[in-house]
Amino acid sequence: MGDQNLLVETRDGITFVTVNRPDKLNALNDRTVEELDAAFAALAADPATRGVILTGAGEKAFVAGADIAELATQSPVDGKARSVRGQRVLDRIERLGKPVIAAVNGFALGGGCELAMACHVRIASENAKLGTPEVKLGIMCGYAGTQRLPRLVGKGRALEMLLTGEMVDAAEALRIGLVNRVVPREKLLPEAEALLRKMIANGPLSLRFTLEAVHDGLEMGFGEAQHQEATLFGLICTTEDMKEGTKAFLEKRPPRFQGK
Ligand code: COA
Repeated sequence: MGDQNLLVETRDGITFVTVNRPDKLNALNDRTVEELDAAFAALAADPATRGVILTGAGEKAFVAGADIAELATQSPVDGKARSVRGQRVLDRIERLGKPVIAAVNGFALGGGCELAMACHVRIASENAKLGTPEVKLGIMCGYAGTQRLPRLVGKGRALEMLLTGEMVDAAEALRIGLVNRVVPREKLLPEAEALLRKMIANGPLSLRFTLEAVHDGLEMGFGEAQHQEATLFGLICTTEDMKEGTKAFLEKRPPRFQGK
């Protein structure tokens, strides 16, 4: 399947994935969701991709939500299937095993806000606006927004956003922890790239297992999560990268990680 609504380009270890429907503010129609699914499945297995930056095409939007034209005609059965499919695709992004940064370059609404929240880190441009306006349309979040938003910003702030449907600007998103940083529009991709380069300079397996420990751990009790962390720590001790990283430190030289 050729991508129509996504641009995917890999440069020096980083893959830039751009949702490319600027005339519809990059709204996620079914086709785009399928393309995201296929793209991230391929990136998981692609050794040339050490990390991903996800953004939207054009000047106005990251992603302005699910495509309302498609939602308007859905049956209950379609609606449930669409929700499950979207949740699965966002889980795939969160579970990529490599860092994914959302470069939020404008509106991130509804499914767009949910997509940004499935990424590991969010950097917003000063013009960004984020929100979950589904209730204004007589619907509700269907791509796990009711779950990721309270985990990111706390239950009270999440419910305020979810129940009013009002957007927050970049400064407010930063204040409540919905985004990690806010930068001028022209600095968005360079900042995202610089941050991702710091991450991917580290051991790829260290990144993979850290992501796994955090994501799995948040779904477990504290003791069980510590047990999981210790198991992954034991596993990392078997890797070539562990030998290389510690040896390089003792030899006072930069490490050369192989992801093995
Ligand atoms: N689904 C489908 N089309 C969308 C869309 C969406 N979520 N968001 C924007 N578009 C389309 C508009 O219909 C318009 O298409 P047209 O030119 O063919 O009429 C185009 O994108 C530009 O949007 P427009 O509304 O004219 O831009 P604006 O600057 O006046 O307003 C927004 C921007 C984001 C405030 C407004 O587009 C909006 O409220 N979008 C819906 C957001 C939403 O509810 N998302 C959650 C969906 S579950």
